[in-house]
Amino acid sequence: MKIKKAIFPVGGLGTRFLPATKSMPKEMLPIVDKPLIQYAVEEAAKAGIEQFIFVTSRGKSAIENHFDHSFELENNLLSKGKKETLKTAQEMLKIPGSFAYVRQQEPAGLGHAVWCARHLIGNEPVAVILADDLIEGSKTIGEMIQNYTTGNMLAVMEVDKADVSSYGVITPGKILNNSNIEILNLVEKPSKETAPSNLAVVGRYILEPAIFDVLEKQKRGASNEIQLTDAIASRIGKSICTGYKFSEERFDCGSKLGFIQANIKFSIQRKEMKNELTKWLKEEIMKSNF
Ligand code: UTP
Repeated sequence: MKIKKAIFPVGGLGTRFLPATKSMPKEMLPIVDKPLIQYAVEEAAKAGIEQFIFVTSRGKSAIENHFDHSFELENNLLSKGKKETLKTAQEMLKIPGSFAYVRQQEPAGLGHAVWCARHLIGNEPVAVILADDLIEGSKTIGEMIQNYTTGNMLAVMEVDKADVSSYGVITPGKILNNSNIEILNLVEKPSKETAPSNLAVVGRYILEPAIFDVLEKQKRGASNEIQLTDAIASRIGKSICTGYKFSEERFDCGSKLGFIQANIKFSIQRKEMKNELTKWLKEEIMKSNF
C-alpha cells in the first residue's frame, strides 16, 4: 500500500535536555552536523512519503526555518563559490507545499500531538516518525510501509527488563514472518514486575485512519498525558495490530546517553573523523582506568 503522508510530532518540551532545549527544539539537536529532524525527514522521503506534517509548539520555529531557504546564507556561499557547502545548506529543501505545520497548544502527550494533525489526514493510513528515535540506515519506516497491509503497525525492539517502564510494551502473539509479530495487547510504561514482555515500542508507526476517532475521546493515561499506545491498544480486536522488529541499531536521542552514543557512532562512520576520533577515544578510556 502506498503511504504518502507522515506526521512528525515535535511538540514536546524536551525537559531531559534542559538547559539546551529551553529556547531550542530538541529535534534540532545535531548528530554530528545534521539535526535529528532532518534524519527523520530523510528516512520518510526515502520511503516515498510526499507530505510531511509537523506538529509543533511554541519555540519550535527553528524547525520551519531549517526546511526553508536561507537567502542570505545561500547568496553568501554562492558569491564565494562554495558550491559543496551550498548543496549542504539546500539538501533539506523539498517541493514547495509538501511541508505543513500545525500547532499543539499544550504538551498533552504524543496521542494528543498526533490527533492535532487529524484535519490534514484523509481516510488513509499515515506514518508517524519520532525524530528523537534515531535508527541507523534510514530505512525502518520504508520497510514498515512495504510490510503494511492494514490496521496499526508499530516498530518494536527488545530492551532490558530494567528499562521497560520507559516504554510502551507489547504482549506478543503469533510470529507472522521474520520481522512481523502479532500484538495482543499494549501497555504504556508498565513496571518491571507487570510488563507483559521486554518488547518495547519505538518511534515508528503506521496508523489506520480510525485512530483519530479513538484519540478524540482518549482519556489521559501514564504521566497524565494522552498516550498514543492507549489509543492503539483500544483498537486491538477491531483491527490488526502488528509489531515490526527492525534490525538496525536504534539510539534514544531524547536521552543524554543515547544522544552521545549516536554522536560517537555516526562520527566514527565519517571517513574524515574516524582515525583521530577512535585514537582519542582509546586514549581517554585508558586514562579513565577502564
Ligand atoms: P518524549 O516522551 O521524549 O517527550 O516525546 P519530550 O517532551 O519531547 O521530552 P522530555 O521527556 O520532556 O525530555 C516523544 C516525542 O513525542 C513528541 C516529542 O516532541 C517527541 O518527538 N511529543 C511529546 C509531542 O509532540 N507532544 C507532546 O505533548 C509530547
